Amino acid sequence: GWQGKGSYPNFLLKEINDQPRTTRAAISALFSPIAPGSPADWSATLDRPSIKRVRFLGCGSSYYAGEVSASFVEQLARVPAAAEPAAEFIQRRPVVEPDCLYVLISQSGETLDTLHAHRYLRRHPVQTLSFVNVVGSSLDRDSGASIHLRADKEVSVASTKVVTNMQIAGLALAAWLARADYGARSAELLELDLALPILPTILADLLAGKDAEIRAAAESVHAYRSMYYLGRGASWPVAREGAQKIKEISYIHAEAYQSSELKHGPLALVDPEHVSVVVAANDDSGNQDATLVSQIQARAGNVVVFSQHQTCEFGATTIRLPAIHPLLDHIVMGVALQLFAYHTATILDRDVDRPRNLAKSVTVE
Ligand code: G6P
Repeated sequence: GWQGKGSYPNFLLKEINDQPRTTRAAISALFSPIAPGSPADWSATLDRPSIKRVRFLGCGSSYYAGEVSASFVEQLARVPAAAEPAAEFIQRRPVVEPDCLYVLISQSGETLDTLHAHRYLRRHPVQTLSFVNVVGSSLDRDSGASIHLRADKEVSVASTKVVTNMQIAGLALAAWLARADYGARSAELLELDLALPILPTILADLLAGKDAEIRAAAESVHAYRSMYYLGRGASWPVAREGAQKIKEISYIHAEAYQSSELKHGPLALVDPEHVSVVVAANDDSGNQDATLVSQIQARAGNVVVFSQHQTCEFGATTIRLPAIHPLLDHIVMGVALQLFAYHTATILDRDVDRPRNLAKSVTVE
């Protein structure tokens, strides 16, 4: 059953492998027009015409899931969107914008920084929405409108299957907002509807079919002390979450940069002791990614490419991933990077379920 870790050596690997099932649960709940918690339901609690922008707030991986979600909202609905760490949001005493939808994201629904941001917003006449995994948690109970993430219980400290469902919820919100402009967006919405049911199968194929290759790539990098994760456009938040994950569970220093920024400073650290993980989505930047790889190799830096480009060749270790849809591909990439972090950490014999210094949910300031 899904409550224990079953035959898996730890909860983290079990939870990574839960994703074909948990993504299917989220997709059928959040995209079906009749199910409770579905987009149809959102219209009952949210006033779509008054939403002119969206701001996602959360902590840690939930903040990065907000960044991915913001890019989905911008790309699909063409509604301006951004994400911010929940505590930083309050810290700067923000101007609360009445035409902005604020989305609070939390697995546990108990993270104090996120609850504070929510309470701050509740004192203003503004629409809020919560994405929560734990039903009945503080955030869930305090929220007028909450979307349940349906990933079941997540035990491992590092969030994987819930982060993926947060991105699916972000995509569902994007689709709901895009429907307001259906005339202009119908082709994209139809394309998304067709691709969505395939996502769980693609993830199952990835987890089974790419595991050995991703483990071999992890073998090749595990002894290094420092890494860059490089992504451009919507791959940049995906790279940020990838770097977060490897830091959390392997304790290797990892920093995410926009690929285009490498040459403006970070390139100084590239040497034979350094690894760059290139997060290459299937867009029109294949040549730019190939140039990026050669710039790193020219400084004798090590490179691992996670590529969704269909034709591009890189003279470096390349994990090839499928490309099914321009937005869903980022979710697939995220899962591949989870598996890469997992293997790197287990090769280093880390306690992947209980990394040092971290807590599953931080209920203090
Ligand atoms: C802690 C965990 C992170 C998590 C963050 C937010 O720092 O170690 O993995 O992303 O809290 O948790 P939440 O429950 O609010 O999503």
